[in-house]
Amino acid sequence: MSSILVTGGAGFIGSHVCDALVAAGHDVTVVDDLSSGCEDFLNPAAAFFEMDIRAAQLAEVFEERRPEYVYHLAAQIDVRRSVEDPLYDADVNVRGSINLLELCVAHNVKKFIFASTGGAIYGSPEKLPAPETCPALPESHYGVSKYCVEQYIGLYGRLHKLPYTILRFPNVYGPRQSPHGEAGVCSILAGLMLDGTAPVLYGQGEPLRDYVYVGDIARGCLLALKKGDREILNLGSGKGTSVKDLFSHIQKLTKFEGKAVLKDLRAGEVQKIYITGARAAEVLGWKPEVPLKEGLERTVAFIREQREKAAEEA
Ligand SMILES: NC(=O)c1ccc[n+]([C@@H]2O[C@H](COP(=O)([O-])OP(=O)(O)OC[C@H]3O[C@@H](n4cnc5c(N)ncnc54)[C@H](O)[C@@H]3O)[C@@H](O)[C@H]2O)c1
Repeated sequence: MSSILVTGGAGFIGSHVCDALVAAGHDVTVVDDLSSGCEDFLNPAAAFFEMDIRAAQLAEVFEERRPEYVYHLAAQIDVRRSVEDPLYDADVNVRGSINLLELCVAHNVKKFIFASTGGAIYGSPEKLPAPETCPALPESHYGVSKYCVEQYIGLYGRLHKLPYTILRFPNVYGPRQSPHGEAGVCSILAGLMLDGTAPVLYGQGEPLRDYVYVGDIARGCLLALKKGDREILNLGSGKGTSVKDLFSHIQKLTKFEGKAVLKDLRAGEVQKIYITGARAAEVLGWKPEVPLKEGLERTVAFIREQREKAAEEA
């Protein structure tokens, strides 16, 4: 059993990572400022500190909890917000990560595992599905800030010998993803269609994305605890699915009878991106297991349940 700190552990992916770590017998600590996370998602076995990753008090959490491993998932994740407010994006994503990395070095952390993005770092690569060797050509401030953190992690690896694994996630979807935010197209579409509202499909519904179920991503994170030192690994399925196809799947599940509204792509969004997980298969022995249809069924069921609960409480 190891002491493990998870930043962003009250968020969508972070809470699933915590569940996987607790199930594997680890002693988990969560740091999250609840800016987009939710206290209800916290694993009850985890120690929780409501705190900003940029805060000086983060040092006290390290003193008290003495983490041996750190999973860093806390971030400003909204691509459009990053374009509108790049200073805030860089402050949380870059300055917050440096604050954490400094403490990892001071406390001799055994490994730093970072939630990066395969969807926003490669831009619009010629080679698809994109391997890790594709040049980084982000098309949003969010993509740049995540890539910048990768560079800092590489630096801490060379300068301070901090072991690390960088995991580049695709479009992760599943239960606990917010249907209200800007990220998370599956939950947004499901939420709107359950309300009987016609969703807007940007890029005329043509953009291709790589949708991987959150449970598969959490399993990949768990595998990275002991494998993949100093590696950058895509946790991708290698398959591109259009937003139109996604709409059709969710339309059936929600029995929505309307049509989608088609609009052009917005600033910072790319037309086509899907990434290969071949290297992760080699290094971690990981590949996604939950088929899209089944993952979407679980996602829609979760949103329905949440609504029923909210209606009962009202
Ligand atoms: N969802 C995806 O498809 C996807 C794709 C690629 C990469 N990622 C990365 O995965 C990670 C988790 O994303 P998610 O989709 O679960 O988003 P999320 O918004 O649900 O989770 C982020 C968590 O970080 C917390 N947080 C934000 N700013 C903070 C701060 N300054 N201090 C402390 N906590 C803070 C939020 O409250 C939230 O709980 C992020 O690093 C994101 O960049 C996500």
